[in-house]
Amino acid sequence: MSGPQRLVGKRALITGGASGIGLATAIRFKAEGARVALLDRDEDALDRAKQALSDAVLLPVDVTDETQVEEAFDSVMEQWGGLDVLVPNAAVQLIGRDAAVHELDREVWDLTIGVNLTGMYLTCKYGVRCLLASGGGSVICTASPTSQFGIGAGFDAYSASKGGVLALARVMANDYAADDIRVNAVVPGVTATPLIEGLIEDPEAINSLVDVIPMGRVGTAEDVTGVMVYLASDDSSYATGGVFTVDGGLTAV
Ligand SMILES: NC(=O)c1ccc[n+]([C@@H]2O[C@H](COP(=O)([O-])OP(=O)(O)OC[C@H]3O[C@@H](n4cnc5c(N)ncnc54)[C@H](O)[C@@H]3O)[C@@H](O)[C@H]2O)c1
Repeated sequence: MSGPQRLVGKRALITGGASGIGLATAIRFKAEGARVALLDRDEDALDRAKQALSDAVLLPVDVTDETQVEEAFDSVMEQWGGLDVLVPNAAVQLIGRDAAVHELDREVWDLTIGVNLTGMYLTCKYGVRCLLASGGGSVICTASPTSQFGIGAGFDAYSASKGGVLALARVMANDYAADDIRVNAVVPGVTATPLIEGLIEDPEAINSLVDVIPMGRVGTAEDVTGVMVYLASDDSSYATGGVFTVDGGLTAV
């Protein structure tokens, strides 16, 4: 695939890069001329991703493990000598286990917050150090409509984790503005990826979701990649602390 090549010379690391939105973003970044590193805990999915991205740096890492995260960024810096774009995107949504708070198991809470929020913090902790050492860059945090609105009834742990992601993205925009590091949040709507397989395979659940999406369809991972390219590129040179929604109108109504 050849594109307009808006990311030539950019070095990008994407967590949760072996599946769904992360993988689609990596494929699009590569088509736009970037070098990509995929960080994911799913080694089989990383192997499959290698078929589409033969020259990608593959990092089999759990984002909740600080030592592994630190070593992954060290290895990327050794191979590339710098980093320009960071996409902290790995997350879990424990469909069938996440629940309204009075029925929510502590274990499900800890697991969800651990990956989605603590994992985001650890990725940013070491990733931002690389951007600082490289003279600036762009951080693109994958948030969710549940970051801003209480529309994920029964997904209390997931919603709380994603609220934290958005708050972290905004304060980081302030922290690092003077260092030429821009930090923005992308808010995908209901997007057909393995994350929500459990919902997509349930006709009643998916139909009731589609009913409230003005565009009348679920999104694809590819739908989200255009805004990712914009935020990774120099076209977004004055955009920081922003929330970029790609949800078919879900949260507009
Ligand atoms: N799909 C949706 O409807 C939707 C909606 C809003 C926001 N999002 C967000 O988009 C992002 C990408 O989700 P997706 O839909 O592509 O899901 P996905 O399940 O296809 O991809 C998530 C990836 O994260 C990886 N991952 C999970 N835990 C990890 C860990 N501890 N360490 C390293 N990697 C780990 C998984 O192995 C997987 O490859 C997530 O932040 C998600 O919350 C998705």
